[in-house]
Amino acid sequence: MAPYVAHIQLNRPKELNALNLQLMTELKEALKTLDADDSVRVIVISGNDKAFAAGADIKQMAGKTAMDMYNIDQFSTWDTIKKTKKPLIAAVSGFALGGGCELVMLCDMIVASETARFGQPEIKIGVMPGAGGTQRLTRAVGKALAMEMVLTGKFITATEALNAGLINRIVPVELYLQEAFQLATEIAGLSPLAVRMAKESVLKAFDSSLEEGLHFERKNFYLLFASEDQKEGMQAFVEKRTPVFKGK
Ligand code: CAA
Repeated sequence: MAPYVAHIQLNRPKELNALNLQLMTELKEALKTLDADDSVRVIVISGNDKAFAAGADIKQMAGKTAMDMYNIDQFSTWDTIKKTKKPLIAAVSGFALGGGCELVMLCDMIVASETARFGQPEIKIGVMPGAGGTQRLTRAVGKALAMEMVLTGKFITATEALNAGLINRIVPVELYLQEAFQLATEIAGLSPLAVRMAKESVLKAFDSSLEEGLHFERKNFYLLFASEDQKEGMQAFVEKRTPVFKGK
């Protein structure tokens, strides 16, 4: 494994990594642990070649009442995942559907294999996206395609996803994990403080006015001048050498 890069693999292959409560709780705990671990700077999340995840576990939800769903509040887990400070890279091959697509969209960057398929097919089983799909998909690909995907449940290919701005890059299936690790390694070599504040600032664009976002960005920029990494990064540039960032 590359230095400073952690890998979480969703591992319910027989069920195409359907996201049941146990898996989501384990994912939440793993992310919390890795987020607090100084030896980790970037986290890659993958499934397997056939499926990143085919959605929330339909069999687990099928018999539930509205009050069961309200009490279990399964999507509260997602709020914790959303708070992960380190960059999350989704390495996607095969199906990323429903909650699987929503989990991918919670990540900060998406590397896909040629076989990746993205969709919000909940409408076909009488419900709708519930873990951010209507909001994040619309922000990522725009109203026309989001409406079509959410209202018809159609899947899009990796190429369509790339063209629509949903994902970062497509590589052959035998290379998608390697490519995700390479991207992760590139980011892990930079100042973790600057990376964390830059991630925070980009995400701010989704829930603030332009003025508020610019203000937030400027404060983070100034704050980074309190870090040793800023001194090291700029000094290394002046001395024409490679900087060594410590996250301090
Ligand atoms: N939940 C539970 N089990 C699932 C599942 C899911 N979301 N997706 C697949 N599985 C199971 C199948 O039931 C099957 O199990 P069995 O072998 O015991 O029958 C196994 O995984 C393999 O699946 P298929 O035989 O169906 O595989 P396939 O290659 O023929 O089809 C597929 C693949 C098109 C992805 C199809 O499995 C499918 O349509 N899955 C459901 C997709 C879906 O509707 N996702 C949205 C769920 S709701 C949601 O996510 C809500 C939210 O917003 C969070």
